[in-house]
Amino acid sequence: MLELSGVTAAHGSSQVLFGVDLSLPRGSVLALMGRNGMGKTTTVRRIMGLMPHREGRITLEGQDITHWRPARVAQAGIGLVPEGRRIFPNLTVRENLVAMAMAPRRQNDRHPWTLDRVLALFPRLAERLSNMGTQLSGGEQQMLALGRALMTNPRLLILDEATEGLAPLAREEIWTCLARLKTEGLSILVIDKHVDVLATLADHHVIMEKGRIAWRGSGQDVLDPEVKSRWLGV
Ligand SMILES: Nc1ncnc2c1ncn2[C@@H]1O[C@H](COP(=O)(O)OP(=O)(O)OP(=O)(O)O)[C@@H](O)[C@H]1O
Ligand SMILES: [Mg+2]
Repeated sequence: MLELSGVTAAHGSSQVLFGVDLSLPRGSVLALMGRNGMGKTTTVRRIMGLMPHREGRITLEGQDITHWRPARVAQAGIGLVPEGRRIFPNLTVRENLVAMAMAPRRQNDRHPWTLDRVLALFPRLAERLSNMGTQLSGGEQQMLALGRALMTNPRLLILDEATEGLAPLAREEIWTCLARLKTEGLSILVIDKHVDVLATLADHHVIMEKGRIAWRGSGQDVLDPEVKSRWLGV
């Protein structure tokens, strides 16, 4: 589904990615982990076309998207729930969702994401349709960010720290939702600090260290206390 090979990136003159290799098979969940500042968000920004191109190659279902602009990457089917949520604060919940709506790419897609389907997944948003983005709780904002990404009818969903700063209950709702999307066969790349949840939710686990994928393993492996302290500092 998604392949990265030898992807590099720099912020100005300081290089932050030194050749990232990633592979996410279709219909699977890949957990991308690592301590602060290791390059996870930068990797996502490279995938989305939000960083100037350097070296490496990025393909989506075999199609080379390395040089594509962000709008084209989104249209090709990558839905992003960005770090910090970034919902539109001056739009209502409904407007936030509808603003991002895209028709499903495949004519025969029998379950396209519509406003109704997103609201069925997050009933709380249905009660707040005319509220402004700023009037929502953190958990509701995150549901909105996720709903907004689904409205693009993605083939691949990327979540960058979607549970950060949420109360345990709100976090739980996000995890439940992801588990459900997984059973529906959506391909998901998830970045998160909650290793224990990722151990069971994800099919594949990789850890970044200083701009490279430094560790790969199973959910079982990632729970090893030595792995956690060596690579994740927890
Ligand atoms: N806009 C920027 N300008 C300059 N340097 C940046 C910028 N954004 C990130 N960096 C640097 O790039 C490196 C990688 O950052 P990145 O945000 O990709 O890490 P991360 O793994 O997502 O971290 P976190 O877990 O804190 O979200 C860090 O050293 C960071 O300081
Ligand atoms: Mg980050």
